[in-house]
Amino acid sequence: MLILGIETSCDETAAAILKDGGEVISDILFSQSEIHGRYGGVVPELACRRHIEIIDNVVKSAIDSAGIKASEIDSVAVTQGPGLIGALLVGISFAKAFTYALGIPLIGVNHLEGHLLSIFLEKEEVEMPFVALIVSGGHTNLYYVKGIGDYKLLGHTMDDAAGEAFDKAAKMLGLEYPGGPVIDRLSKSGDPGHIRFPRAYLSKGSVDFSFSGLKTALLNYINSGGQEGSKRPDLVQRIPDIAASFQQAIVDVLVDKTILSAARYNVKDIVIAGGVAANKRLRDRMEMRGKDAGLKVHIPRQRYCTDNGAMIAIAGYHYFKKGEFSSLDMTPMANLPLGN
Ligand code: KG4
Ligand code: ZN
Repeated sequence: MLILGIETSCDETAAAILKDGGEVISDILFSQSEIHGRYGGVVPELACRRHIEIIDNVVKSAIDSAGIKASEIDSVAVTQGPGLIGALLVGISFAKAFTYALGIPLIGVNHLEGHLLSIFLEKEEVEMPFVALIVSGGHTNLYYVKGIGDYKLLGHTMDDAAGEAFDKAAKMLGLEYPGGPVIDRLSKSGDPGHIRFPRAYLSKGSVDFSFSGLKTALLNYINSGGQEGSKRPDLVQRIPDIAASFQQAIVDVLVDKTILSAARYNVKDIVIAGGVAANKRLRDRMEMRGKDAGLKVHIPRQRYCTDNGAMIAIAGYHYFKKGEFSSLDMTPMANLPLGN
């Protein structure tokens, strides 16, 4: 059984072929970060145009490198939302035409569910129910997962997402886009205890998040040059320490609230996924704290944390098994929630 997964919700054009619900036989990704990098963030109009130009080739490469023929594909899963409306429209239109031409079913997938289920691309035993942290450029959500398709939203961010905080911090520090991977890399030579940035725990026991205060604290630190509005003279030399301290502030809150949720719901397993789950420090701390608490921590390989086609295909596979398909009048949804 072959499922083609297509992802175009933001600035990555991705397609993958999943065999029998477990084996990724091709996984093609075209990242547009070079295009958006010069603007310090994603420019929606440019993202849509680039998706249109290359989607054909990305899908063709996925089919060719899998060594299959298009006619062997059983179904196409495509991201329906959340994401940039124009960018989603490209993937959806392509998937509709493709499935119509081949007479196969179309499956619209929630991007967040793709991240959540990306752990099943790995050969890991994850015991249900579990607590999942989905942490990306647009979301910071904690879920109680009872089964596939049964998600309770426990907490979310009140302002910026964790990935967005990384991206904005990098921009303030004059580093390239996307900020997460750069801060991750620079932090390795920095001291995470150098600056004590604030951690927003919100009300006692809350598992919601807030990163806007942290962003302001960083801005104040950068501008503490003595005179009004002037930057610190030692800013450049301190960048690794600033990056490491900023990263640590985010990681501490993410880890604490995930562990707290696991204890509260009495689960044994934790899953983290989404672009920020590629972060080395977050992975290490979550593993360490999970071990101390007697929990099993599951994190997909980095390639499956950031946006990819395989995670959309695996989510699609579960809908395929249930016989739940989308109609050809499916529309993109910029704000598609997951869970209740
Ligand atoms: O899941 P994703 O690829 O796209 C969205 O659904 O948003 O996540 C992208 C986000 C960006 O904000 C990026 O800076 C962040 O994930 N990211 C990281 C790392 N790699 C990507 N953040 C921290 N450390 C990383 N290694
Ligand atoms: Zn994503």
